[in-house]
Amino acid sequence: MRQDHLITATQLSRADIEAVLDRAAEIDDDPAAWSERYGRAVLALCFFEPSTRTKMSFDTAIKRLGGTTTDMGTVESSSVKKGESLADTVRVVEGYADAIVLRHPSEGAAKMAAEFVDVPVINAGDGAGQHPSQTLLDLYTIRENVGLDGLSIGIMGDLKYGRTVHSLADALTNFDARQHFISPESLRLPRNVRFDLHQAGAQVREHTALESVLPELDVLYVTRIQRERFPDETEYQKVAGQYQIDLETLSAASDDLTVMHPLPRVDEIAPDVDGTPYAAYFEQSHNGVPVRMALLDYLLSNVEVGQ
Ligand code: NCD
Repeated sequence: MRQDHLITATQLSRADIEAVLDRAAEIDDDPAAWSERYGRAVLALCFFEPSTRTKMSFDTAIKRLGGTTTDMGTVESSSVKKGESLADTVRVVEGYADAIVLRHPSEGAAKMAAEFVDVPVINAGDGAGQHPSQTLLDLYTIRENVGLDGLSIGIMGDLKYGRTVHSLADALTNFDARQHFISPESLRLPRNVRFDLHQAGAQVREHTALESVLPELDVLYVTRIQRERFPDETEYQKVAGQYQIDLETLSAASDDLTVMHPLPRVDEIAPDVDGTPYAAYFEQSHNGVPVRMALLDYLLSNVEVGQ
């Protein structure tokens, strides 16, 4: 089945995921073979929130496919500042581009935007909702390092507001994976995500401490506390600085543990982990380019580019 838009990880079947990851591996092996594939394509970058990795790797991805980007720039420098609605912005932008990458602080923004345009919309993060293209590169990294079936993964940190967590958890239900969620009580997975996981028959456990579960993990996926999403700064201060790992913490882990993080990190992973074989987070961010090239190919091969 082909997808028009990528809004949430729940829309991805195992076959969709494998198709994108296989294509990403092919691209990774011989990127030059793809350099003129989408020579006429223009990708619109509409980021209503800060971004480094997602925006730059989509930018690099379309350029490595021979295409180019048109960038809305910051909210401050765009017509959003004049009061333009998201619906109007995307209706305008679809006239300039073959696909739209959208990041927005409101949950549901990408879904709403997709209702107004015919070009593919890729949700690059909608508030505390979803971030499915990050999930594809996360899955690619997991597949490369440990494999997806039979996986035991710990997902730690801000499980309430962390959109990368929600998408990853949903996508992992397509595989035989045991998911351990580790967070303070106040940042546990939202009820709707727990419900989706339950419905999908996922193997899920929730913990407040890493210690008990660490030895059995193949992957530890660490996340940043999403300070900007807390309605109250004092609530953030109560949980800030918890759930940090360093080399000493990892002494109880398997030697083969893979540590991941969508980045940016604040203080969740001490720099002493960086140079060790555990650390896969920079490799993970680099995988954003081939995986997003594969995703763009997946979505654009369906549409008439340059029309
Ligand atoms: C994440 C995001 O924006 O949700 N960043 C990213 O895209 N790699 C994670 C985060 O901001 O903590």
